[in-house]
Amino acid sequence: MTDIDRLKAELLDAVAGAGDAAALEQVRVAALGKQGSVSGLLKTLGKMTPEERQSEGPKIHGLREAVTDAIAARKDELESAALEQQLAAETIDLSLPAPEAPRGSVHPVSQVMDELAEIFADLGFAVAAGPEIEDDWHNFTALNMPESHPARAMHDTFYFPDRDAQGREMLLRTHTSPVQIRTMLKEGAPLRIIAPGRVYRSDSDATHTPMFHQIEALVIDRDIHLGHLKWTLETFLKAYFERDDIVLRLRPSYFPFTEPSVEVDVGYTLVDGKRVVGGSEGWMEVLGSGMVNRRVIEFGGLDPDEWQGFAFGIGVDRLAMLKYGMDDLRAFFDGDVRWLSHYGFSALDVPTLSAGVGTLA
Ligand code: PHE
Repeated sequence: MTDIDRLKAELLDAVAGAGDAAALEQVRVAALGKQGSVSGLLKTLGKMTPEERQSEGPKIHGLREAVTDAIAARKDELESAALEQQLAAETIDLSLPAPEAPRGSVHPVSQVMDELAEIFADLGFAVAAGPEIEDDWHNFTALNMPESHPARAMHDTFYFPDRDAQGREMLLRTHTSPVQIRTMLKEGAPLRIIAPGRVYRSDSDATHTPMFHQIEALVIDRDIHLGHLKWTLETFLKAYFERDDIVLRLRPSYFPFTEPSVEVDVGYTLVDGKRVVGGSEGWMEVLGSGMVNRRVIEFGGLDPDEWQGFAFGIGVDRLAMLKYGMDDLRAFFDGDVRWLSHYGFSALDVPTLSAGVGTLA
C-alpha cells in the first residue's frame, strides 16, 4: 500500500466517522485546508521531475477528489439526518383531543355598543370619538357651562392636579357631550353622529360607578325640531328592545347645553315582579336630550340662525341592564368570569338589523 493509499483510507475513515457538521469541518481543514495533508501533497508536485509528476499527479489529484466527494456526501447525510430528527421531534398527533381551552365572551357593554352602532348606522349616523382626558373648555364652557355655573358642581368631576402645557385645566370627561363641540368644529354642518365612550364621575354605589359608558347622539341640519328628536328616540328604542309596544314619556328638564331639554322615560310592565320594558305600568328614566342650545351651536363654530339640531346622551350600562336583566351595575366592572359567561355574548353574535340586534339567550 502506498503512502497515498494509506492517507486516503485514513481520511475516508475520518470522514465516515464525523458525527456532526463541526467534526466534518475539522476533517476537511486537516485534509484540504492550507496546512492540510492533501494540500501538502499537492504542493510537492511542483518540485517533482516531469516523469514523477506524470505518475504521482493523477494519484494525488485522485486523492483530493475522493476526499472532497466523500466530504460532500457525508455532509448531505448529516444534514438529512438532522432534518429527520427535527421532523420526528416536531410531529403533532392530530388525533389527540384538544385541551380544554378557556373561552372568552363579548362583554355586554361592547355588545350593546355594537347594537347601537348598527341601529344608528341604519339611520345614517356616523361614529365620532373624542378624548377621555378632556379640557375644561370642551367639557363645560363650550357646552354653555361657564366657570361659575352650578351644573359643574353636579358632575363630581375628576380634575387633574396640573394644568396642561397651554395652561388649560384638565379633567376626565364627565359625559360624551364634548364630542358634540369637537365634531361641529371639525366637520361643520350638516351632521349626524353618535359618539360612544367612557365617562367618569366621582360617584359609587349599586347604580353608579366612577367610570361608565355613554353614547351621545347629535344631529345638526336646517329646520330640525323636537318632532325629529321624538321620532328618532322612538325608532331607536323600538329597534334596540326589539318590541313595538315601547312607550316613551318626555318630561321637561334642564341641561345647560339644550333648550328646551327633555328627560325621557320608557314605560315598563311588571312580569312576575320583574320590570319588563314595554307598556306603561311604570316609568324608568333612560336618557337626557333636547334641542341643541344656540350658544352651543355658536361654540361649535356654526350660525344658529342657519343650523339647528337635537342631541341626546344615553347610559350604555343602564340600557344593557334594562335589556338583559342585570341588577347591579358594579358587576359590569368586576371582571368575574362566572358573570361574564352568564351574561356574555359569543363573538359570533354580531348584531345586524336583519338577524336581530340582540340575541336574547
Ligand atoms: N350629557 C348629559 C349627561 O351626561 C346627557 C345629555 C346629552 C343631555 C345630550 C342632553 C343632550 O347627563
